[in-house]
Amino acid sequence: MDRASRKIEHIEHTLKLSSNEPNSFKDIKFVHQSIPNIDVEHVEIHTTVGELPLSSPIFINAMTGGGGERTISINRSLARVAQKYNLAMAVGSQMAAIRDKNERATFEVVRKENPTGIIISNIGSEATVEQAKEAVEMLRADALQIHLNVVQELVMPEGDRTFSGVLERIKDIVDELSIPVIVKEVGFGMSKETATKLANVGVNVIDVGGSGGTNFAKIENLRREFTLDLFNDWGISTAASICEVKQSQPFFSVIGTGGIRTGLDIAKALSLGASAVGVAGLLLKELHDNGEEGLEMTIERLMNELKMVMTALGIRKIDELRKVPLVISGETFHWLKQRGIP
Ligand code: FNR
Repeated sequence: MDRASRKIEHIEHTLKLSSNEPNSFKDIKFVHQSIPNIDVEHVEIHTTVGELPLSSPIFINAMTGGGGERTISINRSLARVAQKYNLAMAVGSQMAAIRDKNERATFEVVRKENPTGIIISNIGSEATVEQAKEAVEMLRADALQIHLNVVQELVMPEGDRTFSGVLERIKDIVDELSIPVIVKEVGFGMSKETATKLANVGVNVIDVGGSGGTNFAKIENLRREFTLDLFNDWGISTAASICEVKQSQPFFSVIGTGGIRTGLDIAKALSLGASAVGVAGLLLKELHDNGEEGLEMTIERLMNELKMVMTALGIRKIDELRKVPLVISGETFHWLKQRGIP
């Protein structure tokens, strides 16, 4: 199967899988404050991730690219909404367009629709420095994501089986590029050990891409003739992964992607130490079911919910969320305890 058809199948299967299973944020509870002494209009949600200034901590995370007209149309809508709400947006893996110039249009549409917004390029960890530079130039990108997706590749019958040399390649790219490099997972989370390895090669922004949202083990299984379900329940949850990375590398900027569906999820991710959250599957579904209007309503809902939660907590600025008291229970409590994370 070619890359383009695979991309379309990923979209189809994402749309089929349920997005309402409880995620790790159910284990995190804020402590209610009856006298917050604040008005909703006092709340400000702009923030920064590393050197990138963001109008809100929500950004549209990597999904599509490659795959022709359908992905052009999806990317056009995502880019329009990103521009309207001044949101950062990452594109899907550009490896397809690096290997086949005919695929460039599916990415270039994003910069065309949003000439001045923050756009983030995306490549695989097999990419060379030259390929990383090509991906960035294609979009005049403001930052570059390098995705790590070992489990997804293993579950894909046609997936990669060689994973050596990744850290060396990441180091070369970090050394050579003048824009921020974000290393991200795709739904299996990052551990403190991984964060340390990345710190040692000069990375300081991680997107944890934790479990609890889009599940690429399940998606790849839907594409397989014979299922390989040993990874269906694999991975570090988004909540636990934010804590893992922050404990190991307190000065990293962390992006809390994976299963974000409400403003409450966003507030919880930020309170655990994330600087921003990426949203993928939810936005793809919304666009498919209700078009661009539905996408806009979802972005507004997330922003309004975040402001309401911050109001209830008496918090005016995103940074202050890190200081509010939390109670952690359930699986996340046990995970953090056994991993020695206070
Ligand atoms: C993705 N994701 C992804 N990530 C990446 O770095 N490069 C890619 O090409 C893709 N492709 C892709 C396609 C589709 C259809 C989906 C839904 C997702 C992963 C994505 O950026 C994110 O890390 C995960 O989807 C987890 O977030 P959600 O979906 O739970 O919000």
